[in-house]
Amino acid sequence: MKTIMLSTDQADINIAAELLQNSELVAFPTETVYGLGASAFDEKAIEKIYQVKGRPADNPLIVHIADYQDIAKISSVPLDHEQLSSLAQAFWPGPLTIVVDRNPLTPDSIAAGLPKVAIRMPNHEVALHLIRATGTPLVAPSANLSGRPSPTQAQHVLADLDGAIAAVIDGGTCSVGIESTVLDITQSPIILRPGSITQSEIEMVLKTPVSLALASETSDKVASPGMKYRHYAPRAQVLLKHPSDKIEITTSTLLLVPPLLLASYQKQYPANKTEPLTSQNLYASFRLADDLQLTTIVVMVDETISSQAGLFNRLQKAAQS
Ligand code: TXA
Ligand code: MG
Repeated sequence: MKTIMLSTDQADINIAAELLQNSELVAFPTETVYGLGASAFDEKAIEKIYQVKGRPADNPLIVHIADYQDIAKISSVPLDHEQLSSLAQAFWPGPLTIVVDRNPLTPDSIAAGLPKVAIRMPNHEVALHLIRATGTPLVAPSANLSGRPSPTQAQHVLADLDGAIAAVIDGGTCSVGIESTVLDITQSPIILRPGSITQSEIEMVLKTPVSLALASETSDKVASPGMKYRHYAPRAQVLLKHPSDKIEITTSTLLLVPPLLLASYQKQYPANKTEPLTSQNLYASFRLADDLQLTTIVVMVDETISSQAGLFNRLQKAAQS
């Protein structure tokens, strides 16, 4: 299959919508990362997603909607549910995924057989246009091969999936750069995956404490199936250091440093690649290290970084070996 690169023009979005209506997969930009889209009620297309990504069958997908009322198509939660409506009011469209009870009439494959479904309204005009043009919500995992860093540019999607999917819409670089915060509100609210929308921001809106799920590979009861898999990993080894640590740098080391320290590290290690450590640039830096066949990524984690829960979570996951 030849993967076509589409622009964000309405004509190209219409082509993408038609492909989706015909059970094809189309990658599209969101504000977080590129998603690999399929029509949410198309079991054949959903099966393709698991196939081309090499994704474990028990890891469910997020349903992307363009209008609040679309929730009724996939969930049994009342639209005037207090927590849901206040979260949507505060954060949608935006990088918050909300897990609610699934409508039992929807196909099992929408949520890997779970009784709950994850829903988000992306804050990206192209994504919203595409969902409306297709006429149905879209399931969309990150458009990378399972285990590889999520794509934040159309080129990253091609690097992993060229020839395996029908099309990619090139919407430039994603502004947020890490995946959405996933929040389950079916019981007392719990964050299953941290992201750029923080625990305290959510607590302010819900006016109640919100807990954070601990990722554990050994736990029998995994709150969010995606959490048990090694994620966000470049091939290079990722080492987390504090700027006060002694570090060993070789010619095949990439340095990832807080933006304010960039100039001083560049001066100190002129022979090395040095990249700013931001959510937006994280996955591109991981891919860069692999493209250059570097063996290590030394990441300088100071308080400006460890205080960013979403970014810090991705760094910790990437450093797990
Ligand atoms: O920012 C994002 O969320 C991106 C863009 C494309 O929207 N999508 C994304 O999808 O990161 P994916 O499939 O790579 O990650 C989905 C996460 C996984 O950790 C999965 O386990 C969790 O959401 N999830 C999905 N459905 C769930 C459910 N019903 N219950 C609990 N967790 C769920
Ligand atoms: Mg993913």
